[in-house]
Formats: sequence, structure tokens, C-alpha cells
Amino acid sequence: MAASNSPQHWFDLPRAPAPGTAVGTVAELPDGQATLFALDTGGGVAQPFRLLLLRDGTQVRGFVNRCPHFGVPLAAKQSLLISKPGNSISCNVHYARFRWSDGVCEAGECEGEGLMAVPLDISADGQLTIAATGRGCD
Ligand code: FES
Repeated sequence: MAASNSPQHWFDLPRAPAPGTAVGTVAELPDGQATLFALDTGGGVAQPFRLLLLRDGTQVRGFVNRCPHFGVPLAAKQSLLISKPGNSISCNVHYARFRWSDGVCEAGECEGEGLMAVPLDISADGQLTIAATGRGCD
């Protein structure tokens, strides 16, 4: 079961990035891997907006690095991230397992819930930015 008072949308979280915020480049992300990404949206190094970026070739899916069970990061640093590329990512607190394809929890304490997807735009030259979609106004 998820923590109570959980935000429903990524853009309701503290320090959620505005549309157009730069998130690096596709080339910076290892292909076929899950990468933790700390985005400074005003909280500095101590309180970044934590993303989880999954790259498959030229495609990148973004999720908030936040387990729906207790609202904590799935992993605090890259070396602790548990993933089976192309298959799943697991929380390293109680080991809930999330599908690679859509972030839905398929086993564990928050089964049926999911990671919050963060829409990304990818430019022709591989620049990643937070998309304007998904805020209920598009
Ligand atoms: S915090 Fe419990 S499974 Fe993630």
C-alpha cells in the first residue's frame, strides 16, 4: 500500500521542473540502462528533483525517482540502483519491482501502482527537455 497523502502527479511534487527545463542529452545516458539524474530546480545539490531515465536507443523515458510505497527514492545513488535492463527496475528499500516499459509495479508492496512518468521532449540533436504535456492543459 502506498504512503498516504501521496501526490498524484509529478508536477505536484516540490521543485517539479517547468516545461522546457534542460535534462542533458541522450548521448550522456548509457544505452539500454537506467540512469539516476539529479536536476537542480532551485533546491541545490541537497534537494534536487530526482529523475530516473531509461534509454533505449534514441528513446528515453523519464520517471520520478520516487517509490510509490513510501515516497522515497528507489535508489539514492547509481551504484545502488537495481535494474534488469529492458525488463525491470526495483526499489532497494523493500524491493518492489517496476516494469521497464511503463513503470507499473508488478510485484511488491505497491503492486498495481506505478512510478510517475515525466514527459520528455527530445530534439533532433538529442537534447532532452521537460515536455509541456501531461499537466492536464494539453
Ligand atoms: S519504499 Fe517500500 S518498496 Fe519502495
